[in-house]
Amino acid sequence: MDTNTQRLLHTFSALADLGQEIAAAGDFDEMLRTSFHLLLGSLAIRRGAVGEYERDLGALRFVAARGLGESLTGPLALSTDHARRLSSLGSSISLADAGKEAERFLEDHKDAFASVEIDLVLPLVVREELIGVVLLGEKATGEKFTDEDLEVLSALSRHIGVGIHSHRLIDEVEHKAAENLRLYEGLRAIYKETVRAFAAAIDIKDRYTQGHSVRVGKYSEIIAREMGWADEEVEGITIAGYLHDIGKLIVDLSVINSPDRFNAKEQKEMNRHPYAGYEILSPISHPYADIPLMARYHHERMDGNGYPDGLKGDQIPPGAKIVTLADSFDAMTTDRPYRKKLPLEDVLEDFRVNTGTQFDPEVVCAFCRAFLKEIEGSKERRLLNLLNRNYSNIESVTPLLNKLLSEFDDGAIAASANN
Ligand SMILES: [Fe+2]
Repeated sequence: MDTNTQRLLHTFSALADLGQEIAAAGDFDEMLRTSFHLLLGSLAIRRGAVGEYERDLGALRFVAARGLGESLTGPLALSTDHARRLSSLGSSISLADAGKEAERFLEDHKDAFASVEIDLVLPLVVREELIGVVLLGEKATGEKFTDEDLEVLSALSRHIGVGIHSHRLIDEVEHKAAENLRLYEGLRAIYKETVRAFAAAIDIKDRYTQGHSVRVGKYSEIIAREMGWADEEVEGITIAGYLHDIGKLIVDLSVINSPDRFNAKEQKEMNRHPYAGYEILSPISHPYADIPLMARYHHERMDGNGYPDGLKGDQIPPGAKIVTLADSFDAMTTDRPYRKKLPLEDVLEDFRVNTGTQFDPEVVCAFCRAFLKEIEGSKERRLLNLLNRNYSNIESVTPLLNKLLSEFDDGAIAASANN
């Protein structure tokens, strides 16, 4: 095999190694260093460096170097003119131009390169943009560089240039994604604050149910968490709880604030609110699924006797079933114009009687488990804190909660709640 063929094979092998190196995920600077050493090795070049061109700084940041001693301790300035000239020479630079660029480079950076020689400067250009430069010293053999050598070096340099360019693109995409995420989170925070403001507005209209919407949101959150819902879904159900009665905004104020139980006409007016809520919420693009449906179906019942659509069992979305229970619990545990709040024992008895017909057993059991865990102290007191201002001796309902669980839960879940 003659020398040229050997060299050609060597170059192909270096190119293949370089391709693999660039394609491999991992530390970018490390990849660049390895690639550069492959390039030096391909022609047994003793010293050199590869630097990324930072356009904003007007400087070269060197990421790999060999045999240059203390010459490259920091970035080296590269004027815009110089960068423009290098980029116009491009990847197909001639040997003579690469030599001239080396001389200019040494002239511009006399201090840094007082004791070392650079023979060639190869610009790394991708899509007519200067990405970086490769500085190269002499060959170990002392022979002069040939046009063939330059072809080899240019091919390897192009690979490195493309590697740097791709890395920059990925960086840029990651940066944009992070920025989008920040914007999205900002919007989400605004959305949540707006929802809270809406909840407060709904509750202000109804002077007998102050704080109802916010409490329903919080009870719904506690239940959904106990049911093992994902964080995102729990956030969604909390919002649905806040907004479930938003349809009351269109119900006649005199009906809402009537001090007596509703007559048939008033009840009909009042029963418009779930569907009205759905209509209000539907045109809004919510960051969570099914918020309008949860408002629409929060007065449906498992037996199909609810409103507005008379849905039955599994036809009712799970979120709406949770809001239904949270809504009823808050309604029964707060004073209403026509009745005082019910004793907790009566509330739980109501749950027991209506589970399966009005309430979903799974939701009732999750509620009981969360309640019991708070009483036992194995869970933060959230439900108890919401109730505390109205009730004392809450712990006394432990047997009733266990009774509900044993009646409606399957054995395994009841056992785990009792442990
Ligand atoms: Fe309602």
